[in-house]
Amino acid sequence: MQSDYLKKLLASNALREATLVSAIEALNLPKASQGLDVGCGAGLQCLLLARHIGAGGHVTGLDVSAAFLEHGKTLVEGAGLADRISFEQGSAEAIPFDDDTFDWVWSSDCVGYGPWEPMPLLKELKRVTRPGGKVAILAWSSETLLPGYPMLEARLRATSAGIAPFKEDMAPSTHFLRALGWMRDLGLDAPRAQVFSGSAHAPLSDDLYTALKELFEMRWPDVTKELSEQDRTAFERLCDPKSSEFILDHPDYCAFFTYSMFYGAVREG
Ligand SMILES: C[S@@+](CC[C@H](N)C(=O)[O-])C[C@H]1O[C@@H](n2cnc3c(N)ncnc32)[C@H](O)[C@@H]1O
Repeated sequence: MQSDYLKKLLASNALREATLVSAIEALNLPKASQGLDVGCGAGLQCLLLARHIGAGGHVTGLDVSAAFLEHGKTLVEGAGLADRISFEQGSAEAIPFDDDTFDWVWSSDCVGYGPWEPMPLLKELKRVTRPGGKVAILAWSSETLLPGYPMLEARLRATSAGIAPFKEDMAPSTHFLRALGWMRDLGLDAPRAQVFSGSAHAPLSDDLYTALKELFEMRWPDVTKELSEQDRTAFERLCDPKSSEFILDHPDYCAFFTYSMFYGAVREG
């Protein structure tokens, strides 16, 4: 189960990476700084963050999953960055580092984007960030993947999988796009929101084709039970790679998605 998720996460990188690089560049983290990536998964953004801060900097990747961290270690060794990136197994609920350890903390598709209460985790992120340092969280925030089928896509968006990891009975204030309020309640200076987009269009490279195919499965697992028969038929016709009308094979295929980033600085003095 986990290795299947890891495979999808790695495959989706071809689609996400350029957008995440734009977000990192917008943060403008100090050169040669020390940072923490919370919920680092397979370490994909640890690499991007380490390249951004340059030689002399160091990124620590924190994740609960030993299997993901093992993959991360192999990845950074392969990239020749093992001296600038290290990994630690642990939870965002109790980050295993002292107060004010890092110059900045980053978390992508983890803190604030899950079934957990965001504030206790954000307090941990703030605790380990030194005064003046940035705390940044970002998450996948929208997509249009089925050009020509807006009604089907709207209905997919209205399923449990479509709104995941949010759930219908959760308080609106816990939805990721309410993170400006979390930043304010945390007492961070100058909270900001920035949205970054990414896109893919025909002719798709092999990497983007695979990334989108895996994304369809990640985005809409077990979705058919919540669809009408008509929508289920259309979904299977358009989104099953075995279908002769699989939408990624359309010569005019075009899709886009967004990531939203919220960040602020830990108050000094
Ligand atoms: C959707 S993945 C994102 C991984 C990575 N940031 C990326 O974007 O490629 C979410 C990650 O958060 C990790 N995670 C879940 N709960 C966590 C917690 N309480 N503390 C730290 N990591 C956690 C998972 O193991 C997983 O690697």
